[in-house]
Amino acid sequence: MRTILVLGGAGYIGSNVVWSLRDKGYNVVVVDDLSNGHLEFIGTESFFKFHINKDNLENLAKNYNFDAICWFSALIEAGESMKNPGIFLQSNLSENFEVLEFAKNHGIKHIVFASSAGVYGIPDKQVVSETDRTDPISVYGLTKLTFEKVLSFYSSIYGISSVSLRFFNASGASFTRNIGEAHKRESHLIPIVFNAALGLRDGVKVFGNDYKTIDGTCIRDYVHVEDLANAFILSLEYLFNGGETNIFNLGNGEGFSVKQIIDKVKEVTKVDFKVEITGRRAGDPDIEIADYSKAQKILKWNPKYKLDDIISSAWKWHKSDTYASLMRSV
Ligand SMILES: NC(=O)c1ccc[n+]([C@@H]2O[C@H](COP(=O)([O-])OP(=O)(O)OC[C@H]3O[C@@H](n4cnc5c(N)ncnc54)[C@H](O)[C@@H]3O)[C@@H](O)[C@H]2O)c1
Repeated sequence: MRTILVLGGAGYIGSNVVWSLRDKGYNVVVVDDLSNGHLEFIGTESFFKFHINKDNLENLAKNYNFDAICWFSALIEAGESMKNPGIFLQSNLSENFEVLEFAKNHGIKHIVFASSAGVYGIPDKQVVSETDRTDPISVYGLTKLTFEKVLSFYSSIYGISSVSLRFFNASGASFTRNIGEAHKRESHLIPIVFNAALGLRDGVKVFGNDYKTIDGTCIRDYVHVEDLANAFILSLEYLFNGGETNIFNLGNGEGFSVKQIIDKVKEVTKVDFKVEITGRRAGDPDIEIADYSKAQKILKWNPKYKLDDIISSAWKWHKSDTYASLMRSV
C-alpha cells in the first residue's frame, strides 16, 4: 500500500483530498499546524500537528516511508500578502523549500502541489490556458509561480516528478462528509455571501460594478472542491504511472459574475441582505475563466459539478451544526 504525506491536510481542500485518498485505499499521513485548518475535518488517525520544517519532517520520517506528497500548506490570502510580503516569502518559499530538500533526501519522487490561478496576474485573455503569460500581481501569486519553477528544476536535477495544479476558485462543500469552507479569516466570495445570509456579517461589499461584463461585476470560474480532490487522485496516478512534471489549470470552464453569485445565494437561502457597491480593488481582471482542456486530455479530468451543485452543497454546509460550532471557536 502506498503512503502519501499530505501537508496542510486539515484545511478546506486538503481535507477533501485526505478522504478521497483514504477511500482509494492509500495509507495517508496528515500534517497540519491547524493555523487555518480543523481537526474535525479529518480526525486523529495518522495526524501530526506541527509547523512544517526540516526537523519536524525528519522526526516523522523515522516512522514512515513516503511514496508521494500532496501539498496544500501555505498562506493563502493574496490581499494579505501585499500587506505582509515577508511572512509569505518565509512561509510559501523558504519553509516550502525545506519540504523539497526533505523529499530529495528521503527519495520521495512524486509531488502534487496546490498552485493557483494567481500565477497569471491580469491575463491578456478571458479564457486562460497554461501557456498564457504568467505575471503575478500579488506576492502570494509570485510565491506559487516561483515554486512551480523550483519544482521543475528539482524534476530535472533530482528526478522528483511533480504536478502543479492551478486552481481557479475552489468552492462548494463535501457531499458526503461534514467538510466545507471555514477559513479563520474568510476572503472568498461564496462563504462571505453565505455568512451575510446567515447574519454572521453585515452584508456584502462588491468591489466595483463598472467592469466590462454583463452586469458590471467581475466574472470568475468556480470549481467544486470534490472535483479538485479527484484531480489530485488522477495527478498522483499520472505520476505513479511515469507521467512527466506538468502544470494544469483546474476550473469549470464557465464564469459567473459576483452579482450572479449573490442573487443565487439569495434565491437558495430565501434571505435578503445588504449589498454595498464600493470602489474597485487594484488588479481585478474583468473576466477570468480556466481553459482546462490540458487536464481533460492528459489527466482525463472532467469537472462533474456545476454552480447549482456548488451553491447547494455550500448552503447545506453553512447551515450545519459543525459550521456553527467551528465559527464559534474561531
Ligand atoms: N481556496 C482556493 O480557492 C484556492 C485557490 C487557489 C489555490 N489554492 C491553494 O490551495 C491550497 C489549499 O487552500 P485552502 O483553501 O484549502 O487553504 P487552507 O488554509 O484551508 O489549507 C491550508 C492548510 O495548511 C495549514 N498550514 C499552513 N501553513 C502551514 C505550516 N507552515 N505548517 C503546517 N500547516 C500549515 C493550515 O493550517 C491549513 O489547514 C493552498 O496552497 C492555496 O494556496 C486555494
